[in-house]
Amino acid sequence: MKTIIIYESEHHKNTKKLVDAIKRKYDIETVKVAEACSIDLGNYDVIGLASGIAFGKFYQNLEQFAQKHLPHSKKVFFLYTCGRDSGKYTASISKTASSRQCEILGSYGCPGFDTYGPFKLVGGISKGHPTQDEIDGAVRFYETHILH
Ligand SMILES: Cc1cc2nc3c(=O)[nH]c(=O)nc-3n(C[C@H](O)[C@H](O)[C@H](O)COP(=O)(O)O)c2cc1C
Repeated sequence: MKTIIIYESEHHKNTKKLVDAIKRKYDIETVKVAEACSIDLGNYDVIGLASGIAFGKFYQNLEQFAQKHLPHSKKVFFLYTCGRDSGKYTASISKTASSRQCEILGSYGCPGFDTYGPFKLVGGISKGHPTQDEIDGAVRFYETHILH
């Protein structure tokens, strides 16, 4: 099963920690969204999309990439980190994937250090996140939801 994770992790590289942990343990490819256009995604069985959250969605460049380039009828999954989870952060990207007849295998989200806007004034929120346990949780998610 050939897997690639396309990611954007620009704020504090929180999400990249989840992606890197999975890559360290499993034989997958990872690529930043800015470099993903040149890749033929048709060659992969499973496509992961991973991102920090901005304004209630995956980062805009990842949302737009999925709208333009996500192949039809693939197995997909989502990873994200966020300041404070609303439980709805995958709604938009899920809608895009479903509109392309993709099968959504699952999603994993956890807190990530957030110093955006007013949070900067108080030293940020979700300090120290993702923790090692949360990073391990992403690997466990990959094992249980994607591999099996
Ligand atoms: C411009 C901007 C907007 C954000 N909006 C949200 C948001 O709507 N909800 C939330 O929980 N976190 C929000 N965050 C916090 C990030 O999602 C969080 O810090 C995340 O872990 C960043 O991931 P990254 O380091 O991989 O980029 C925002 C951060 C930035 C920079």
